[in-house]
Amino acid sequence: MRVLVTGGAGFIGSAVIRHLALEKGYEVLNIDKLTYAGTLTSLKSVEAKPSYRFLKIDICDAAAIGSAISTFRPDRVMHLAAESHVDRSIVGARQFVETNILGSFTVLECARAYWQTLAPQERSRFRFLHVSTDEVYGSLGRDGLFSETTPYDPSSPYSASKAASDHLAKAWARTYGMPVIVSNCSNNYGPFHFPEKLIPLTILNALEGKSLPVYGSGANIRDWLYVEDHARALDLIAEQGRIGETYNVGGRNERRNIDVVKRICAILDDLCPIGHSREEQIQFVTDRPGHDARYAIDATKLETELGWRAQESFDTGIEKTVRWYLDNEWWWAPLREEYDGRRLGLIRAGVG
Ligand code: NAD
Ligand code: TYD
Repeated sequence: MRVLVTGGAGFIGSAVIRHLALEKGYEVLNIDKLTYAGTLTSLKSVEAKPSYRFLKIDICDAAAIGSAISTFRPDRVMHLAAESHVDRSIVGARQFVETNILGSFTVLECARAYWQTLAPQERSRFRFLHVSTDEVYGSLGRDGLFSETTPYDPSSPYSASKAASDHLAKAWARTYGMPVIVSNCSNNYGPFHFPEKLIPLTILNALEGKSLPVYGSGANIRDWLYVEDHARALDLIAEQGRIGETYNVGGRNERRNIDVVKRICAILDDLCPIGHSREEQIQFVTDRPGHDARYAIDATKLETELGWRAQESFDTGIEKTVRWYLDNEWWWAPLREEYDGRRLGLIRAGVG
């Protein structure tokens, strides 16, 4: 099996590649532009394998993508490359429109051109998995869950750009008959997570004695999924999912942000005591503009149709994650020099 992964130097893409290359023994081509969020050190465990290759390519570059696809001849494309941070999208939406919409369009068109040249057997085996987010559904109130039929209602430039790319992917299935599947996932966490998102930012700021910024009242709820559970789900969806369908992926682990931050403090206080609780570092700060109140995924379709189950609960996953950051300073220290955890995403004048 030959799998082309876009965005494989990112948080989820690198987990997918480790799963495919190490556990499944597949041939993998990683295509990544290496933005600030792309970290090849996340792939140290696979980089020496002859079955793994990396090409530094921008997914907006049609000629380079087309040539990479026709040379590698994938059985499967897993498209994860994206600008992924909501706060950055608030102050610089252009890059999100370019990569997430135009880049996804480019990957779809190059994949279509290749798929059309395939012999019937290869053609029917080919799959294109478009990886997206539950943020396309907007915000939930206190009750209810996102299902695959929840109407799209994105709030941020990030989620709007992902929604646009989901629509393109589905249109390529309906109009051109391309074997496309879409997955929409809740918030991931785990090892190799760039320290701009809530969980890794909190762990590192807590360790360094810095303030722990909690937006608004901290009552916003996210539904946390351990990244390796997500990687297995994506492989399963690409392998056994029905063409043209959407699958929601979530771990049934809803938590208020403030409780996530306090849990991290408690684990760190336990593993490396400093004589007082790190909860004292918590600071409630100006809320995120357009902050969605609650996300929660109903993963019944994935569980019943494909038999997927999350292996980690939030309690086991968060402890593993904190321990991983304690043991792997070599990975995050260079990233911390590039981005030191300062607040992003407050609206300023001017264009993005
Ligand atoms: P990430 O920001 O960690 O990684 C994104 C990767 O894409 C990076 O390696 C980056 O270099 C690469 N990239 C960015 N622009 C590119 C371009 N123009 N050309 C080629 N490569 C480019 O993101 P992630 O958290 O790993 O997310 C992966 C995918 O999963 C995204 O599509 C995201 O929308 C989706 N997703 C993420 C989450 C989450 O909680 N992190 C949840 C649901 C869905
Ligand atoms: P984040 O990790 O940015 O993911 P997303 O916006 O995709 O859900 O944020 C998770 C939640 O944590 C979200 O409600 C915003 C909040 N948050 C904070 O309270 N403080 C922070 O420093 C960050 C980065 C996020």
